[in-house]
Amino acid sequence: RLGFTSLQMAAVSSSGFRLTKEHLVVAVPVAVVAAAGGFLVSRYLNRRSCQKGLVNTFISKDSPKVVHSFDMEDIGTKAVYCRCWKSKKFPYCDGSHAKHNEETGDNVGPLIIKKRDA
Ligand code: FES
Repeated sequence: RLGFTSLQMAAVSSSGFRLTKEHLVVAVPVAVVAAAGGFLVSRYLNRRSCQKGLVNTFISKDSPKVVHSFDMEDIGTKAVYCRCWKSKKFPYCDGSHAKHNEETGDNVGPLIIKKRDA
């Protein structure tokens, strides 16, 4: 006989701390709740920080998704589209990317679609 009751485990550390089944009955749920709480808090904080970094700050905010579509035949010989989301003429570039780059240190610029020079 080891001297432990049936509810005790025979786990004794070198410091003399005895880990019993009662300890585990409390420690395991506490650890699970702490892990779940930590996960939820980190998800909440991550979502908040993503919202602060919105790319689109003012264009069609009442729409669930901003989408533009053009037929190739209607583009003509050249079209310049905004990729910085700062243009007052969105989806076309109005040069606002230059100010954005200067203020933020970013390096964004437009998408230029043109017919190949003959
Ligand atoms: S204004 Fe946005 S890329 Fe030029």
